[in-house]
Amino acid sequence: MNSTVSAQHARVLSGMRPTGHLHLGHYHGVLKNWLDLQHEYECFLFVADWHALTTHYDNPSNIPNSGWEMVIDWLAAGIDPNAATLFVQSRVPEHAELHLLLSMITPLGWLERVPTYKDQQERLKERDLATYGFLGYPLLQSADILIYKAGLVPVGEDQVAHVELTREVARRFNHIYGREPDFETKAEEAKRKMGKKNAKLFDSLRRRYQEQGDQEALNVARALLEGQANITLADRERLFGYLEGGGRIILPEPQPLLTKASRMPGLDGQKMSKSYGNVISLRDSPAEVEQALRTMPTDPARVRRTDPGDPDKCPVWQFHQVYSDERVRDWAREGCRSAGIGCLECKQPVIDAVRAELQPIQERAQEYAQQPDLVRSILNDGCERARDVARETLDEVRHAMSLVMA
Ligand code: TRP
Ligand code: SF4
Repeated sequence: MNSTVSAQHARVLSGMRPTGHLHLGHYHGVLKNWLDLQHEYECFLFVADWHALTTHYDNPSNIPNSGWEMVIDWLAAGIDPNAATLFVQSRVPEHAELHLLLSMITPLGWLERVPTYKDQQERLKERDLATYGFLGYPLLQSADILIYKAGLVPVGEDQVAHVELTREVARRFNHIYGREPDFETKAEEAKRKMGKKNAKLFDSLRRRYQEQGDQEALNVARALLEGQANITLADRERLFGYLEGGGRIILPEPQPLLTKASRMPGLDGQKMSKSYGNVISLRDSPAEVEQALRTMPTDPARVRRTDPGDPDKCPVWQFHQVYSDERVRDWAREGCRSAGIGCLECKQPVIDAVRAELQPIQERAQEYAQQPDLVRSILNDGCERARDVARETLDEVRHAMSLVMA
């Protein structure tokens, strides 16, 4: 767990490729998680339009509109633009520069070995993904993360390998560029700038960590460093590195924050996904929701109304587990097994619950859709805030990589 920022000061960063209207799978799997995080952490959430281009470079015309509708769905779901920073990747070109600079130190083998590289090439056979951009997909993601020095990256299982790559790249970067010739002298000087008492405390915590592996001492020392208002950023990085026995930590290693596998099934019981054609979109009308649920499959053994069924063999039952309280679940389970209720009856509470969930989301979506200027200004503000942070990191990276002339 070395070289990571302490949780209480962690910045959260996450991106989504622009896919247009989101569905209930996104809502239960990702957005609800973001809704909680936005009040606990400083969150940066962005539209990964460059990532979309790595796979859709030959047909990019839908990307802008998809990104736009997706942002409206974020806002409609309750992402608060005053709490979280919302922006568009391609409007923060600093990501691209960091991507380029990181590419200098990233061994090809690291990228070729990322599991999604071969998997996606296999899965998307109809596309030619033997491109430079596609190989660089996870490194671009590393740049997205590292440019905000994000401590936590909420992702699904499939993206953990990308965060792991990011950690390796950060480690390599710090190893190569964090070692100044006079590192120890500078670190000692920095330490003294904290004052006698703090310097002494730092020394003893550092010793406890380095000699006894005392994790608590490490945490306390980090908090001490974070609380120092009058040392420079570079000095703080030196001291973070000095504390752990390395060089300066310019790019801290992020942690994946694993989103619980979404319990949201699709209409056929498989994972809800646009490519399976089993979704309920956040913008589906009440009539469409009703239609979709009324026609969704049930336990195939219930051919006639009088045949008893088994909820465990029925995707509707999975919806009950997401939407129904215990009383309704008991009613459905018993009614199914005894053939006491019909399937349409059983579906009705789910239909009502999904509609009730979507109603306020759709009202908000409509409000935002009617105020494109407001959405534009949310994104403009977000892009600016993001750029301010990104520029700072990039400035340090340029210095560290000797790209700044007198
Ligand atoms: N690759 C991510 C996905 O497909 C999207 C993404 C791009 C991302 N950059 C990121 C996620 C940075 C987290 C952090 O879902
Ligand atoms: Fe599924 Fe409900 Fe029909 Fe049973 S009664 S098969 S749980 S829809």
